[in-house]
Amino acid sequence: MRIDVLTLFPRMLDGFLSESMLGRACEAKLLEITVRNVRDWATDKHRTTDDRPFGGGAGMVMKCEPVVAAIEAVQTPGCRRIYLTPDGVPFTSAKAEELSKQQHLVLLSGHYEGIDQRIRDTVIDEEISIGDYVLTNGTLAAAVLIDALARFIPGVLGEEKSLTHESFTSKLLDFPQYTRPAEYRGMSVPEVLLSGNHTEIDKWRTAQQEEKTRQVRPDLLK
Ligand SMILES: C[S@@+](CC[C@H](N)C(=O)[O-])C[C@H]1O[C@@H](n2cnc3c(N)ncnc32)[C@H](O)[C@@H]1O
Repeated sequence: MRIDVLTLFPRMLDGFLSESMLGRACEAKLLEITVRNVRDWATDKHRTTDDRPFGGGAGMVMKCEPVVAAIEAVQTPGCRRIYLTPDGVPFTSAKAEELSKQQHLVLLSGHYEGIDQRIRDTVIDEEISIGDYVLTNGTLAAAVLIDALARFIPGVLGEEKSLTHESFTSKLLDFPQYTRPAEYRGMSVPEVLLSGNHTEIDKWRTAQQEEKTRQVRPDLLK
């Protein structure tokens, strides 16, 4: 899968793309991610990418010319062009899985007050928010999207099984996990997990998932 990230802060993704599972996925060419600086498509002497908003108001708005030129330079037929924005559709695990099946994504990160509406109207296919809060720019939002969708690409996790019990896969949150030692500072691992009885372990885990979901995210049970 190919992903182009368009941002004014390409270096924000340096560590993210070279570490851990994502680093290995990129090395193995399961993912081909290119981070591009929108400023490279600015044509004036000062490489301007933003200007004051028409109608007044605080802050600056990213300009059409460099952003549209950047998108047009990297897009391919059938690719999905996504703008990360707090007023987009909330990102979910189901959306991550859907996007993981695409051949090519173009992810646009905004900055300042956002981007000129005409960019959204003409060269953006979808708008996604990673949560009800406002970041200073969309680069980390693009990273969140990439990280979540990468887990659905065969080979990225190594052990495909590890996806099956995750939070949200079954509309339930995950069950509690324990590892050695069996006793730590007077706290013991629940007996059932040491029993070797997998039917009982599954039953216990499902009960824990239901209880946790009821307490923390009752909306998922509706
Ligand atoms: C300061 S924000 C702009 C906020 C915009 N004026 C608003 O109120 O909706 C700058 C950029 O950060 C990114 N961003 C901020 N919060 C985000 C979120 N929750 N999800 C996705 N992208 C976000 C977007 O790319 C946005 O263009």
